[in-house]
Amino acid sequence: MKIVTVTGYKGGCGKSVTAIHLATFFSALGDVVLVDGDPNRTSIAWGERGQLPFIVADERKAMKIVQGRDFIVIDTPARPDSSDLKELAEGADLLILPTLPDVVSLEPMLQTASDLGNASYKALLTIVPPKPSREGETMRDDLKANGIPVFDTMIRRTAGFQKAALAGIPIRELTGRDRLGWLDYESLGKEILEVLGHE
Ligand SMILES: Nc1ncnc2c1ncn2[C@@H]1O[C@H](COP(=O)(O)OP(=O)(O)O)[C@@H](O)[C@H]1O
Ligand SMILES: [Mg+2]
Repeated sequence: MKIVTVTGYKGGCGKSVTAIHLATFFSALGDVVLVDGDPNRTSIAWGERGQLPFIVADERKAMKIVQGRDFIVIDTPARPDSSDLKELAEGADLLILPTLPDVVSLEPMLQTASDLGNASYKALLTIVPPKPSREGETMRDDLKANGIPVFDTMIRRTAGFQKAALAGIPIRELTGRDRLGWLDYESLGKEILEVLGHE
């Protein structure tokens, strides 16, 4: 069983969207439970509007449901306190920290990383504006230059995610341009499998 937790110090940076799409990616490989630990219940509500290809469990009921599964993805609310992050890291195989590619996000991310020490975590650039903007690449380079582990894959900003949220499905089920965001989560999923040493 592999446990991947999606968290961060700030809201609105794509944590829930990331948790839902990683769970979708893993659902092609095994039995998956997404544990919704956010009091807003974003992931549960998403699934209730339509259908997701995995079980979504309220964190209060998760204990029993997660037993014997191949992948557990945990969605969390923002954790402004980095000592909480350390606890979360200890309870997971990998902590994913989505972050927007903007200057105001860099400093808190550096702080978070220094608090996490050598825990297993990796930053993820999300909601990255399209070319000719270079904000994604710039932020990724800044993080790398500061010794922060960061995924090569960046998640593009696209309206497909809103459409998928409204329909209650993963972006994978959309067509045409609306589906392009799926390519990013597929690529991220492959990077994560490498980190987890999954064959
Ligand atoms: N890659 C993306 N492109 C465009 N919109 C996105 C993307 N990722 C997330 N969003 C939107 O941004 C908002 C916040 O995303 P969400 O995953 O709920 O953030 P968090 O869980 O960190 O608060 C939602 O409206 C969501 O649809
Ligand atoms: Mg959320």
